[in-house]
Amino acid sequence: MLLKVENINVAYGHAQVLHGVSLEIDRGEMVFVVGRNGAGKTTLMRTIAGFMTPTQGAITLDSEPVNGTPPEKMAQKGVRYVFQDKRVFAKLTVRENIQLAAYPTGEPLSEAIDKVVGIYPKITRFMDKPAGGLSGGQRQLLLLGRALVGSPRLLLIDEPTEGLAAGIIEEVFKVLDRIKGTVSMVIVEQNLPVVCRLADRVYAMKEGGIPAHLTTAAEIQDQALLEQYL
Ligand SMILES: Nc1ncnc2c1ncn2[C@@H]1O[C@H](COP(=O)(O)OP(=O)(O)O)[C@@H](O)[C@H]1O
Ligand SMILES: [Mg+2]
Repeated sequence: MLLKVENINVAYGHAQVLHGVSLEIDRGEMVFVVGRNGAGKTTLMRTIAGFMTPTQGAITLDSEPVNGTPPEKMAQKGVRYVFQDKRVFAKLTVRENIQLAAYPTGEPLSEAIDKVVGIYPKITRFMDKPAGGLSGGQRQLLLLGRALVGSPRLLLIDEPTEGLAAGIIEEVFKVLDRIKGTVSMVIVEQNLPVVCRLADRVYAMKEGGIPAHLTTAAEIQDQALLEQYL
């Protein structure tokens, strides 16, 4: 297993949000986490990325315990978190946004740009424009391309299609489909058709726990089954 999350509790101050959550992901797998707003999905992603430390339980990456490892160290270990808010450095150009991602990984800028363009060819024409001028969908595609810079081992992608127009959702879907198998991914998503078409496995989250883990194609493609958790 690449990542093992075992029975973790996570709290904001005295408010416990995750209760005994376990999840694992193997190399090359694409695993989805579904659940309503407030279920604790982002908290789980933030914890794996190192922004929060569990009060109980263990997280291991390639058999190495990583509880309490800060986010910049987790990034060095190849864990990339694509935030839910689709935030970019708005005043910097698209190129500079890519440069900031490339620098800490040591990947040459030209290779990093090739990766982003490979994901989203139309980004070329915005390369020297402020990233703040991109639409939500264009930002998401920039962020997905940027997450591939360096040699990530694990991508954590938080609600990649949230708030996007239908046409660009299809484009995000195609990108996820194209990179499927090349890197391990945990994706939070409430767009069930996207989940049904892409997932290797699905964890359903509710009230800070994981009441269901769907592993067969028949379960994963059963949208009505997934809907129970939204
Ligand atoms: N910074 C925070 N401080 C306190 N409580 C928070 C904070 N962020 C989220 N929560 C609470 O934790 C719970 C889970 O939130 P979150 O992980 O964002 O859920 P989801 O991503 O599934 O919508 C919610 O009840 C939310 O109000
Ligand atoms: Mg969230």
